[in-house]
Amino acid sequence: MSMHGGGPMGRFSTDPDQVRANNAEAPKIENLLGRIAELFSPYKLTLIATVILVIVGSGLSVIPPLLIQGAFNDGLFPASGAPNLEILSVFVLSMIGIWLVAAALGVWQTYLTSSVGNKVMGSLRVRMFAHLQSMELAFFTKTKTGAIQSRLQNDVGGVAGVLSNTISSLLGSSVTVLASMVAMLLLSWKLTIVALVMLPFMVMLQRKVGQVRAKIAGKTQESLSEMSAITQESLGVSGILLAKSFGRQASEISRYETENKNQIALQVRLIMSGQAFFAMVMVFMSSIPAVIYLVAGVLILDQDPITVGTIVAFTTAQSRLLFPMMNLLQVSLDLQTSQALFARIFEYFDLRPTIKDPVTPSSMDLKQLGVIEFDDVTFAYPGSEADSEPTLKSLSFKVEPGQYVALVGASGSGKTTVSYLIPR
Ligand SMILES: Nc1ncnc2c1ncn2[C@@H]1O[C@H](COP(=O)(O)OP(=O)(O)OP(=O)(O)O)[C@@H](O)[C@H]1O
Ligand SMILES: [Mg+2]
Repeated sequence: MSMHGGGPMGRFSTDPDQVRANNAEAPKIENLLGRIAELFSPYKLTLIATVILVIVGSGLSVIPPLLIQGAFNDGLFPASGAPNLEILSVFVLSMIGIWLVAAALGVWQTYLTSSVGNKVMGSLRVRMFAHLQSMELAFFTKTKTGAIQSRLQNDVGGVAGVLSNTISSLLGSSVTVLASMVAMLLLSWKLTIVALVMLPFMVMLQRKVGQVRAKIAGKTQESLSEMSAITQESLGVSGILLAKSFGRQASEISRYETENKNQIALQVRLIMSGQAFFAMVMVFMSSIPAVIYLVAGVLILDQDPITVGTIVAFTTAQSRLLFPMMNLLQVSLDLQTSQALFARIFEYFDLRPTIKDPVTPSSMDLKQLGVIEFDDVTFAYPGSEADSEPTLKSLSFKVEPGQYVALVGASGSGKTTVSYLIPR
């Protein structure tokens, strides 16, 4: 029993390992990136404006740490001794001004990305709906209803979110990381080395924890599918009839209970493995400034003239690294998710209806309106054995408008099949 779209841990789970597992299931589509780009081509200008806004906004956020250095060294603790309020207020006001501008740019950029994202999603939704209307009846009989709804709701719906989050956070975070590093280098290259030397350990740790979590998440997913399979089997009319007729209720309940216990244990393990990692990252990131104070002390004793302003500004710049770094780790996953979303959408667009309307339809004979005529119709269900008898063989009949016709025959003789063939 597959778990397409839905359930407590459905496709839109925020758990990274769950997302990874879902992405792996996505269909393979040729020239995927080209086709995605095509969808966004009507909004080129808006997208370019967004990119510029993100770069300028993130770039601006590097300036305040540099201003902090000035505020400390020239405003609060100048060489003359007493604080220089005039200089200090210039620094403080410029910092506040920059934050205001950055915030305004952020709001504007969110407006642009979300409007493009929603417009693309809106047109995809209508196109998908129209395309599905053109599919033949057989498509709907062989596709699970839930699966079609999931494409329309979850996959198309996810496009807007993915666009507004993924693209802007990819750009924004990369610019912030780069800019913070530049600011750190400008302030002190020695302290920069100390701060960055510890980062690779964190990435390694993240990988390790990710692998462990992926395993647990896989098992959790399987167990959830198993539980929903049991529910569907035993809580339907036929399942309940079977259980009641054969007195199987107790064994059904115990089957469900066993799987439920397994599920609970897995969920707790999954949550705890994430917690442990998160706690370690927090301790790690918080201890970097402490280590920097220590190294700064050593540097000052070594006659390296490092100022209080530089140390404070440096730790500020360094602390701005954490969030965008974590973001970038997340974004690579989001990018895969968005590719999987688009792949599933395009897979449906690529379905060709087996019955096509002629390019130049012949005009209708209005006198024949409402007449149903089968003229030597032979029909076999696709997938039936080649040498078996077709379901309908050389069937001919005519029903005039207003006529009542009864189809009579043994079960399986093809009455429903005839009615399915009428709408094409
Ligand atoms: N979707 C399907 N795929 C393959 N074979 C099918 C499908 N639906 C029906 N059949 C087969 O086609 C034959 C005719 O089935 P159909 O449902 O048209 O019979 P019916 O006359 O409506 O029967 P009943 O009186 O039980 O409703 C049967 O042998 C059935 O097994
Ligand atoms: Mg029937």
